[in-house]
Amino acid sequence: MEVKLRVRRFDPSQGDEAYYQRYAVEVPPSATILDSLLAVRERVDGSLAFRCACRSAICGSCAMRVNGVSRLACKTKAIDVAPNGGEITLEPLANLPVIKDLVAEMAPFYEKMRAVLPWLVVDPERPEPEREYLMEPERALRLGHLVSCIQCAACYSACPIVAIDDGYLGPAALTKACRYCQDTRDDARAQRLARIADEEGLWRCHTVFSCMEQCPKGINPTEAIQQLKKMVIFDRLGLDRSGKRRKRDV
Ligand code: SF4
Ligand code: FES
Repeated sequence: MEVKLRVRRFDPSQGDEAYYQRYAVEVPPSATILDSLLAVRERVDGSLAFRCACRSAICGSCAMRVNGVSRLACKTKAIDVAPNGGEITLEPLANLPVIKDLVAEMAPFYEKMRAVLPWLVVDPERPEPEREYLMEPERALRLGHLVSCIQCAACYSACPIVAIDDGYLGPAALTKACRYCQDTRDDARAQRLARIADEEGLWRCHTVFSCMEQCPKGINPTEAIQQLKKMVIFDRLGLDRSGKRRKRDV
């Protein structure tokens, strides 16, 4: 089948203004957007820049906007986007600078991730376990959906608040914070919540849900942000996770 692409091109080294270039390539009916781009680069225009690695919706590197919606190019079939053979518009992720064509600069996104301490912090006073640090299976299962984040930045691109305030941490970083704040092996919950409970963090989210709609892994960052807000409020009121006053405060 023929896939028609309209691709946003931009090469700052040439001092170009961004422009749109049209391509048409023959690909199998099962072809993804990424397959179509690879066909363009191999057969038509070797100068076209885009990222990919795993081709299996695992690494997150091929995220881009497809007809205005943030998606993984390797997970999106061309025929599903344009069943009648219409043109498909491809643009880099929004809310990030563009390096070239469909390649976004991810550094601002990763910096915000790092700001929420996206790793396990263990109190040196905590007694050493005999083997590895373990978490109850029920809690691990509850974290399951948050753990599946591949840091593709589709949610960040979709977020209308990041679009108007680039200081906002954004949905992915806050989702990561929620994941670690609920991990019983971690001892930095209070430190992490202190970092994110301000007007460039939690309280900046307007619960628009675009992040949830465009996350390719089915994660709901808006819900994670709501959970974090609840944690902060409960901590300030001296309540435990179930909403009861903590024993030491009674
Ligand atoms: S929450 Fe979803 S959209 Fe956002 S970075 Fe993680 S996988 Fe990508
Ligand atoms: S190439 Fe890895 S997620 Fe698409």
